Amino acid sequence: MNLIVNKYYTIDKEGEVMTYIQFDFQNPIIFKETQMIKFQQQLKNIHHKLCVQKQQKNPCLDWMNIHQTEDNFKIQELAKKIRNRFQFLVVIGIGGSYAGAKAAIEMLQGTMNHRTKILFVGQNMSSSYIHQILEQLHDKDFAIHMISKSGSTLEPALAFRIFRTFLEKKYGENGAQERIFVTTNPNDGNLLKLSQKKKYTIFALPENICGRFSVLTSVGLLPMAVAGIDIEYVQKGATTAYKELFSQIFNFNNPVYQYVLYRNLLYQSGKKIELFVNYDPDMLAFGKWWSQLFAESEGKNHKGIFPSTVIFSTDLHTIGQYIQEGERHLFETVLWFENTLSNITIEADFENLDGLNDLAGQTLQNINKKAFLGTLQAHVEGGVPNFILTIPKKDAFSFGYLVYFFELAVTLSSYLNKVDPFNQPGVEAYKDYMYSLLDQCPIG
Ligand code: PA5
Repeated sequence: MNLIVNKYYTIDKEGEVMTYIQFDFQNPIIFKETQMIKFQQQLKNIHHKLCVQKQQKNPCLDWMNIHQTEDNFKIQELAKKIRNRFQFLVVIGIGGSYAGAKAAIEMLQGTMNHRTKILFVGQNMSSSYIHQILEQLHDKDFAIHMISKSGSTLEPALAFRIFRTFLEKKYGENGAQERIFVTTNPNDGNLLKLSQKKKYTIFALPENICGRFSVLTSVGLLPMAVAGIDIEYVQKGATTAYKELFSQIFNFNNPVYQYVLYRNLLYQSGKKIELFVNYDPDMLAFGKWWSQLFAESEGKNHKGIFPSTVIFSTDLHTIGQYIQEGERHLFETVLWFENTLSNITIEADFENLDGLNDLAGQTLQNINKKAFLGTLQAHVEGGVPNFILTIPKKDAFSFGYLVYFFELAVTLSSYLNKVDPFNQPGVEAYKDYMYSLLDQCPIG
């Protein structure tokens, strides 16, 4: 085995890139040099085009500037009111209209710990799921943030009908109006018309920002602010990533450049599945956001790396056997945070019946890190290349930084594979069949 270890760190030297992310690549396979040179040249051309289009203010690239233009003040004021007045915020949306907010809230506050509880609905049409949420809310006062760019996606539209009716019955039209906030396309759609008629507060989601690139607009920022996340700091992370990563994209030490180049070389050499690995269940929703971003942006024209998200150690005991010894078409991208939100230390036990006293005095974080390093070694030796992105700590800044990192990476990567990152025509197929079946069946 030819193990190449590339390590790029944040060294402040001339010619090297200062980045918040530490990027390592542990690679047990050899790439064809001609392919590498071809990709490098193509990436240069793509970057040049992006710079020109950005200067010409191509609306498709609006997501790149959004952290500088969003109306923070309005969002923060509203979030404060919602926090002070309501026990719950029900966020209604699907795909890019909810995944980013859920990712941020769970990454930064855990899954069980919000002051104003945020509930997510509109991602399924399970009556049992909706029933449980309605049960939970029946004696509570809550607000709704309804998010749909098109304003016509069935799953959130139905959930909105159910929860809006619930509020209208309980508080009347005016009471519901005080409790409902909407983010949608400002030019068209049923949701826009309904919201204008009912005089709901409306946030405009610019036409050219597609859902999965919209987390740094009101789509993600309002639920985050309601949950008590410092959205200025999120945006600072994204702005820093823009400065560090976009302007210097072709410095060889730029982690975005490395990631895009090598993951596509891996793809060419038959590695068609990327596992996004975290060692913390609070990162599951972030992993889902990441999966959606890459799947909907790259998976077109019968091309694209299949993105999947796993939590270790949990999934080392579900699919770990396959990763170690199954078909060799995988690579892993591991996100590792150096510091955790809290430190737990293993105590000594007088009887030591479980035999764990050798670990007494160690923090759980340190033991988790050993699991990560041990797994890394085993998987790389088993023929699974690994990217390792190390982040100093899990906070609002790193969330913003990571969002920008992956949005930029998927844009470059999609263009490298000659697909448009900003559409998702394949998602329409199931909708067409579902609607035709609904037309054929009498509803109700
Ligand atoms: O990334 C995307 O554009 C999609 O995932 C959409 O966010 C998702 O399909 C929901 O669409 P809408 O906001 O129009 O209801």
